Amino acid sequence: MFGLSLDRLKILTIFAAQLYAMIDQTQAIKITKTSHSRIQEVDWENLPFGKIFSDHMLVMDYKDGAWQTPEIVPFEDLKLHPATSAIHYGQSIFEGMKANKSESGEVMIFRPELNAKRFAESCVRMCMPEIPVEAFLDLVKKIVDFDRDWIPTKDGNSLYIRPFMFATDDYIGIKPSDTYKFIIFTCPVGAYYAQPVRVKIEEYYTRAARGGVGRAKTAGNYGASLYPAKLAQEKGFHQLIWTDASEHKYIEESGTMNIVFEINGKLVSPSEDDDTILRGVTKRSVLDLAKSWGVEVEERKVTVAEIVEGLRNGSVTDAFGAGTAATVAQIAAIGYRDEVFDLPAIESRTLSNKIKDHLNNMKSGKVADEFGWLMKF
Ligand code: COI
Repeated sequence: MFGLSLDRLKILTIFAAQLYAMIDQTQAIKITKTSHSRIQEVDWENLPFGKIFSDHMLVMDYKDGAWQTPEIVPFEDLKLHPATSAIHYGQSIFEGMKANKSESGEVMIFRPELNAKRFAESCVRMCMPEIPVEAFLDLVKKIVDFDRDWIPTKDGNSLYIRPFMFATDDYIGIKPSDTYKFIIFTCPVGAYYAQPVRVKIEEYYTRAARGGVGRAKTAGNYGASLYPAKLAQEKGFHQLIWTDASEHKYIEESGTMNIVFEINGKLVSPSEDDDTILRGVTKRSVLDLAKSWGVEVEERKVTVAEIVEGLRNGSVTDAFGAGTAATVAQIAAIGYRDEVFDLPAIESRTLSNKIKDHLNNMKSGKVADEFGWLMKF
């Protein structure tokens, strides 16, 4: 993993756990409640994505080689030194999760331990201090519980949870920062994509090269994607399908999501063996669920040629993105060079419709959590 030996990673993890335990056992979390809740101002029937923020956030600083006492504070602007190193040199990582409420009011977060592990892996790759999985989960639970009234109840809506960490040394020069800020805020959200997406296979620009940071959820990956995505948007597409950096021969992922195809009744998705693809929590869940229903699933190298051929001869019957924000985002059309291939009508996509509904129902407690994927409290 990221070229680190397993032993070294284990030692780093144990060390991080010890550092965290030192603060956790000696100091309780500090809480400052807002004096003016904004919850009455929310239009719960028309929630946009990512524009409304709950009343509080959790903040934890790293300095002198240790994580400090976490605090829950009113959601507010941050004051930053102009030389804050994350702004200049990009040591910045994040995660995304969703929480829902069951009819009985129980809070459920979907597979947060996978996000916690991926966050820890991003820390290692970006030379940032790790937060042990258990501690990460505990902090997520604390802030979501504190603002649990902000969890939307309308079907299809959720509380999006955004943990992130960035380097805070005020220093001009390239080295890992000695100080960091870890924050978790939450936002009640509606759909990320309001309609099926049109995507274009990208054969020039690159999201990630082997040995780079493609597997880490680091801010720069998203910044670097904006210009190529803008060029595609000018041609009527919403997003790109990224291909491998060296030959542009293999499909990798799509915009802000992993990608899954249905080919001759099988679900096929690019394998995560190379370190160029984000290890998606929604993608993993989609594939696990489909397998449990007896659907054949292949995670392997997927060539652009086979997808284009399959779109021509009709063996590719469905394609969809999978991501926390987007959930299951069905693809309406795929652009390749000067051609645009329309995929079958959304109503006919029996399997992806069933997966989407099942995952949404599981997240809100309407169907059984048969795999134990929900963290409940
Ligand atoms: C997510 O799916 O949670 C993401 O992080 C994608 C996006 C909102 C940047």
